[in-house]
Amino acid sequence: MSWFDDNSMWEVFYDCMFDDDSFALADEQCAQVLRLIGQTPGSILDLACGPGRHVLGFARRQLPVTGVDLSGYLLNQAANLVSQQELTANLVHSDLLDYQPTGRFDLITNLFTSFGYYPDAEQNQQVLNNACTWLNIGGTLLIDTFGKEQAARDIEPVHCTEYDNGDLRFERPLLIDQMRIYANEWTLVRGNKAYRWEYQHYVYSADEITAMLKLAGFSEVMIYGSLDGADYDLEADRLVVLARK
Ligand SMILES: C[S@@+](CC[C@H](N)C(=O)[O-])C[C@H]1O[C@@H](n2cnc3c(N)ncnc32)[C@H](O)[C@@H]1O
Repeated sequence: MSWFDDNSMWEVFYDCMFDDDSFALADEQCAQVLRLIGQTPGSILDLACGPGRHVLGFARRQLPVTGVDLSGYLLNQAANLVSQQELTANLVHSDLLDYQPTGRFDLITNLFTSFGYYPDAEQNQQVLNNACTWLNIGGTLLIDTFGKEQAARDIEPVHCTEYDNGDLRFERPLLIDQMRIYANEWTLVRGNKAYRWEYQHYVYSADEITAMLKLAGFSEVMIYGSLDGADYDLEADRLVVLARK
């Protein structure tokens, strides 16, 4: 089992990663995404949608949206929220590389550092190749992640985050394999229990991901430092990649 295929891990970390504030933030991010792409998409696919934070945001704006995710636990959370909020969305339980859409999309999103998880670099390239195939001509792929430049700038030795519910998360991040891989170890201390989780994924520089997107067949690639379109520079918060077919 890969780290990202471990439902018990998502269950333990759910309250920290996906609290109410994170859902409110995702709703704002949907508005930012729509402004950044400068189009109203007729169909959206959210790749690795998790608990559906952005699926809900798009559905609230009456946009037809499909979310795909490997985690049954997270997808179940998404389905419950869609139903509680009386929204309409299509949710698919699948590995990204097994997913076979029946139609094409105007916008494909991949948000909150959900790219680069496959252990084989070719598989990560394949995700981009597929996204390009699944877009209508003129459609957009939008990826929000952190870049290698930011990882190198921001990486901290062991540090701790305290959550509102009192949980403590200790992290031990590293950039390994000639800075190709971001490897992290989380220890969550909740009351008198501790949970440990190790994960790693590829990190790409702006130039590296641009080359991958060109190889996938995208005609134009734009790089930003945030979803509101800031420059990708030394102050950038995120690596936001907008690729047009
Ligand atoms: C950091 S979470 C982000 C979730 C969501 N995009 C958000 O913003 O809330 C990463 C997500 O990627 C999903 N994921 C990881 N590998 C996957 C794969 N191979 N196929 C489908 N989903 C995957 C995980 O299940 C998880 O929901």
